[in-house]
Amino acid sequence: MLAMNYRGPYRVRAAQKPYPEILHPGDAIVRVTRSCICGSDLHLYHGLVPDTRVGMTFGHEFIGVVEEIGSSVQKLAVGDNVIVPFNVACGMCAFCKQGLFGNCHESNPQATAVGGIFGYSHTAGGYDGGQAEFVRVPYADVGPTIIPDWMDHDDAVLLTDVVPTGYQAAEMGGIKTGDTVVVFGAGPVGIMAARCAWLFGAGRVIVIDHLEYRLDFVRNYAQCEAYNFRSMEDPVLFLKKTTDWFGADVCIDAVGSDASGSALQTITGKKLMLQAGSATALHWAINSVKKGGIVSIVGVYGPTDNLVPIGNVVNKGITIRANQASVKRLLPRLIDHIQAGRLNPKAIITHRVPLEEVADAYHIFSAKLDNCIKPILIPPSARK
Ligand SMILES: NC(=O)c1ccc[n+]([C@@H]2O[C@H](COP(=O)([O-])OP(=O)(O)OC[C@H]3O[C@@H](n4cnc5c(N)ncnc54)[C@H](O)[C@@H]3O)[C@@H](O)[C@H]2O)c1
Ligand SMILES: [Zn+2]
Ligand SMILES: [Zn+2]
Repeated sequence: MLAMNYRGPYRVRAAQKPYPEILHPGDAIVRVTRSCICGSDLHLYHGLVPDTRVGMTFGHEFIGVVEEIGSSVQKLAVGDNVIVPFNVACGMCAFCKQGLFGNCHESNPQATAVGGIFGYSHTAGGYDGGQAEFVRVPYADVGPTIIPDWMDHDDAVLLTDVVPTGYQAAEMGGIKTGDTVVVFGAGPVGIMAARCAWLFGAGRVIVIDHLEYRLDFVRNYAQCEAYNFRSMEDPVLFLKKTTDWFGADVCIDAVGSDASGSALQTITGKKLMLQAGSATALHWAINSVKKGGIVSIVGVYGPTDNLVPIGNVVNKGITIRANQASVKRLLPRLIDHIQAGRLNPKAIITHRVPLEEVADAYHIFSAKLDNCIKPILIPPSARK
C-alpha cells in the first residue's frame, strides 16, 4: 500500500509499505478515505520530537471505512464509515474512565505522560498513522465513532483533532460571560479555538499571529479581532493596553514549540535544542493574562524543559490548564454543534492533495505557502 514515509527532518515521501495486520483481537484495519496534515506533524517534520524514527508513517487525523475487524471487536462492522480520534486509548484504565483519553495509561509503553497517538513518534507509542491507504486501529471498540449519514466527510475528518482541540482550548479557559479571550496562533487550532470561545460566552475574542492571510481568514471565520505581532513593538504591552491595563481574562496558546517572535527562544529552542522548542507564545500568554486569569495551553511542547516566566505565574495567581484534547469525550457535543450549524469546520480546508504528493503538501503547509490553512490528503484508493 502507499503511505507517507518519514526520512529525516524536512524529508518525507510517499512510498510502498506492507499492508497493516491485525495484531490483537481488539484491532481493526481502516481503509483511509481522507487524512490531514496537522501543526503537530510539523514538530515531527522539523525534527523537534525525540525518537521520531525513519520509516514511520505520520497522520493522526483520518477517517475511513472499516476493512477488517479482530475477533473481539463488537461495536464496528466491516464497511462502517468511522471518525478515528487521534488519541489511542484503551477505554478501561483509570485515566480513560475519567474521560482523559489523551492520557491513557495503557496505550503508550514509552511514557507516563501522554497516551498513544497515531503516527506521532515512539514517544507517543510508535503507532503508524493514517497518512496512508490503510491503518491499524487498536482498541477499535473505544475510539472509532460512526460518521452520521448527514455529515459531510470533510467535516468528519476535522472532528479527529482540530475541532475538539480548539473546543477544549476554550473549555479549559473556563470562559465566563463577557470575558476577553486572547488566542495566540491563527492556524487551524487557533481558528477553531477563537470560534469556540463565543460558544462559551466570550464577550471579546482577539487572535494574534504574524501571517496576514491567516489573520484575514480568522477575522471572517470567527468574527473576531486579529492582529499581527510583527506590527507591534511588544504584543504583551499591546494586549495590556487594549484591556484597560488589566490583561485578558483568558489566554490560549495555540502555537506550541514552533513559535516565532523571539530570537532568544528561537535560537535556544529550535537551533541549539537547549529547550524543547520555542516557548514564545506561552511566554506572551502568561504575561498578558490578568492577575487570577487562566492560561489554556493546547500548543504542543516536547517532553523536556522550556523557558517560561514561572515567577509571573505564581505572583499573578494564574491558573494554567493544558492537555492533549480528549477527542472521544467531546465528539457527541461537537457533532450536535455541527448539525445545528454552529460550527462549520470544513471551511478551513484550503488544499486537497493526492497522497502521492505528500512531500509537496508538507512543504506548502510548513512554509505557509499558497495561503494554506489546512491540507487534506486523499489516498489513490479513495479517488476511484
Ligand atoms: N493539544 C492537542 O490536543 C493538540 C492537537 C492538535 C494540535 N495541537 C498543537 O496546536 C498547535 C497549533 O496547531 P495548528 O495545526 O494550528 O498549527 P499551525 O502551524 O498551522 O499554526 C500555528 C500558527 O501559530 C503562528 N505563530 C507562530 N509563532 C507565534 C507567536 N509567537 N504568537 C502567535 N502566533 C504564532 C504561526 O504563524 C501559525 O499560523 C501546534 O503546537 C500543535 O502541535 C495540539
Ligand atoms: Zn493534529
Ligand atoms: Zn486507557
